[in-house]
Amino acid sequence: MTANVDRIIQSRRTHKKFSASSLDRTDIEQLLELIRWAPNHRLEEPWHCYVLDRTGINRLDQFFEENQHIASWPHPGKEKKLDKLRSHYMANLAVIIHLTSKRDENELKDRENYAACSAAAQNLLLGAEDRGLASFWSSSSAMRHPETQAWLGVNLNEEHFVGSLWIGARASFPEAPARKSIEDFTTWIS
Ligand SMILES: Cc1cc2nc3c(=O)[nH]c(=O)nc-3n(C[C@H](O)[C@H](O)[C@H](O)COP(=O)(O)O)c2cc1C
Repeated sequence: MTANVDRIIQSRRTHKKFSASSLDRTDIEQLLELIRWAPNHRLEEPWHCYVLDRTGINRLDQFFEENQHIASWPHPGKEKKLDKLRSHYMANLAVIIHLTSKRDENELKDRENYAACSAAAQNLLLGAEDRGLASFWSSSSAMRHPETQAWLGVNLNEEHFVGSLWIGARASFPEAPARKSIEDFTTWIS
C-alpha cells in the first residue's frame, strides 16, 4: 500500500501536452471525491471547485474570444499566452477544475484554509495520476483574471484563487525535474 502511494506521488508530473479527450461526469466526480478527504482544520472544508467539462471549456473559449483584453493582463506584451492556453491546452483538456479557498478575516484561519486547499489539489492530482491521466496545476493569468473568475461565479471578496487544475489524456511522459536532496531542507533535532 505504502509503496503504491510513494510511486504515485513520485510519478505524478506536470503535463504540458494533452491528447484531445473528454471525461464522463462520474469520472470527474470520482476525482472531486478526493477533494472531500483532504485534511482541513476545524472541518472548515474551505474549498470550492468550479468544474468545466468539455462543454464548459468550449463556453470559456467563447468568453475569451469575446474578451481579448484579458490577454494583456497583468502584463501587456504577453498576449500570445492566451492563444496558447486556448489552442494548445483548452482545445484538448477533458476538464478544468478551478479551485478556490474560503477567505477568513483571521489571518491564521485564512492561511490554514489555503493550505487545506493545496492538500485537496494534490489529492486530486494524485487521483488523476493513479487513473493514468495527465494533469497540470496552473496559475494561468487568464484563468486568474477577475473577469474570468466573475464569469465562473467566483466571489473574490470571499474566495482566493488556489489553482486551475487541468486534467486530460496523456500525450507525453515528461521527465522528472531535479529536486533538492533531503539534507537541503531538513534540520534534524535529536
Ligand atoms: C501553486 C502552483 C502553481 C503552478 N503554476 C504553474 C504555472 O502557472 N505554469 C507552469 O508551467 N507550472 C505551474 N506549476 C507547476 C510547476 O511548475 C511544477 O509542479 C514544477 O515544475 C515541478 O514539476 P512536476 O510537477 O512535474 O514535479 C504550478 C505548481 C504549483 C504548486
